[in-house]
Amino acid sequence: MRKIALLPVAVQGQIAAGEVIERPASVVKELVENALDAGAHHVEVELVGGGLEQIVVRDDGEGMAPEDALLAFARHATSKLTCAEELARIATLGFRGEALPSIAAVARVRLVTRRSADPTAVAIEANDTGHRPAGSAGAAPGTTIEVRELFATTPARRKFLRTAATELGHVVDLLTRVAVASPTVGFRLAQDGREVLSLPPVRALRDRLVQVLGRGRAGALVPVEAVHGGYTLTGFVAPPREQLASARLVWTYVRIGGEPVGAVAGRWVRDRVLLRAVLDGYASLVQRGRYPIAVLFLAAPAGELDVNVHPAKLEVRFRQPAAIHQLVAPALRARLTASLAPTAPPGQEPTAVGERPPAYGSVPTSTLTLEPAALPLWRPAPRGFASLRFIGQIFEGYLLCEGEGRVVLIDQHAAHERVVYERLHAERRTQGVPRDPLLVPETIELPPAQVAALAEHATALEAAGLEGEPFGAGTFLLRTTPRALAGQDVAALLRAVAAELSEEGTSVAADRATDRALATVACHSVVRVGQRLDDAQVRALLVAMDGVEVVAHCPHGRPVAAALTRTQLEGLFHR
Ligand SMILES: Nc1ncnc2c1ncn2[C@@H]1O[C@H](COP(=O)(O)OP(=O)(O)OP(=O)(O)O)[C@@H](O)[C@H]1O
Ligand SMILES: [Mg+2]
Repeated sequence: MRKIALLPVAVQGQIAAGEVIERPASVVKELVENALDAGAHHVEVELVGGGLEQIVVRDDGEGMAPEDALLAFARHATSKLTCAEELARIATLGFRGEALPSIAAVARVRLVTRRSADPTAVAIEANDTGHRPAGSAGAAPGTTIEVRELFATTPARRKFLRTAATELGHVVDLLTRVAVASPTVGFRLAQDGREVLSLPPVRALRDRLVQVLGRGRAGALVPVEAVHGGYTLTGFVAPPREQLASARLVWTYVRIGGEPVGAVAGRWVRDRVLLRAVLDGYASLVQRGRYPIAVLFLAAPAGELDVNVHPAKLEVRFRQPAAIHQLVAPALRARLTASLAPTAPPGQEPTAVGERPPAYGSVPTSTLTLEPAALPLWRPAPRGFASLRFIGQIFEGYLLCEGEGRVVLIDQHAAHERVVYERLHAERRTQGVPRDPLLVPETIELPPAQVAALAEHATALEAAGLEGEPFGAGTFLLRTTPRALAGQDVAALLRAVAAELSEEGTSVAADRATDRALATVACHSVVRVGQRLDDAQVRALLVAMDGVEVVAHCPHGRPVAAALTRTQLEGLFHR
């Protein structure tokens, strides 16, 4: 009963092949994906020397018939695809019949496999000279693949590898991402006989996220669910309180078809469309150049998603990228806004948050639990800012307040900016941002590229109350100014907006451009650091802060307020 067959030559030519085994993590990725495609419930990975000396991947999946085990090492031999049409609805992680031969080309491989109905297991050995049967063996049902002497015959590639600890780090990252999509499967990783990662099977995605992110971070996650244009989005996003220097915790997965087939909810991909949509969903909540934590699964109908575009299957192509953006960005935005609103149910006390990456290598970690530094939703003043007692202004820009057993510090500029920004947005949605015509239209000189950016984003400008048009290559003629800026330097404002928009580039979505323009208007129209506020002005600001949807961050993503509880304050004095 053979399952594996060579792909027809015509199909071979259509596969985005050319798998390059770059490092131990590439081997582990392919072998673990094979285990999951074989329906494994438990997958074990053992490394020696970061995988450079040896990698063993053991699964309890369906195993292979003896003749299939031999054929598995032939190029284009697969049990997962028979014709090109099936690619449009492929549900397995593999489909090319490339991985095993590619690994055997750069290492010594020994495969032992047994189906549960077979009395014994068969062994196959393979390397760059070919593959051959290596007798029978005693083994439990499932498949074990041992990969030794990686790149021994390709020293040039070996030279590019880092230390064992770095390679181990890549394997941990990879396995973590894969495991998140398959919570009901157990995973274990050991290095030189010591356990590095242990993820027993759990029921649901959130349980798996507790295992890999820690209880604190996972507990703060907000579920997301949305449907648009045939695509379905599910997953979790973290409140923007924690912002990382890289996108390494923005995990995006895709699959074809509504419900997952088997235990795999999706294929991890790094996709620019998805990442952009996630960041736009967090727009103004996360500082530029910083990244949130998000775990998202996108299900596409057959024919909408092409998984056959990248040699290592790490990238995909969507037939309608715009639909993805329209699904993801607003869905995230809505959930984040709702969860950050001051009326959100009370959570834990806030504490300081730092990004603490797990240490690999020398420090043995029994599980990859990133410190539970993360917090539930952040509310410096759970009962509202208006309930706080204003004590005074310090360092000419911060409001010192007290109430509800905590000291609250508010960045007056950031807070005012947030309030004005939300007000501008609300006005824009209703009657439009109020504006006044300039008595004499103002001609403002700008670099030609910025004039072009302003012309390109005329709608965004108009939405922000800045009407006008280019006047020659290096000049912009401004006819109106937002009322919020009455009497202020409009040329400086327009220059700032132009700089923002030209930095964004011309391809940016209209909504995002408008957001940027409104954020810049907000920033220019508000009280400055250094400006003295009287009691009445402070009171008005505190009241206004309670009226806006998202008070936690200014439109540039900086925090607006910070709080110190009584206990934390007493801790400073060792009480
Ligand atoms: N752990 C395993 N358990 C059962 N069958 C396996 C296992 N690993 C590989 N196979 C079989 O060997 C075949 C070849 O595996 P290989 O990884 O080379 O290709 P693939 O998974 O079909 O496609 P891709 O190259 O995209 O990974 C698979 O189609 C599958 O039938
Ligand atoms: Mg495979």
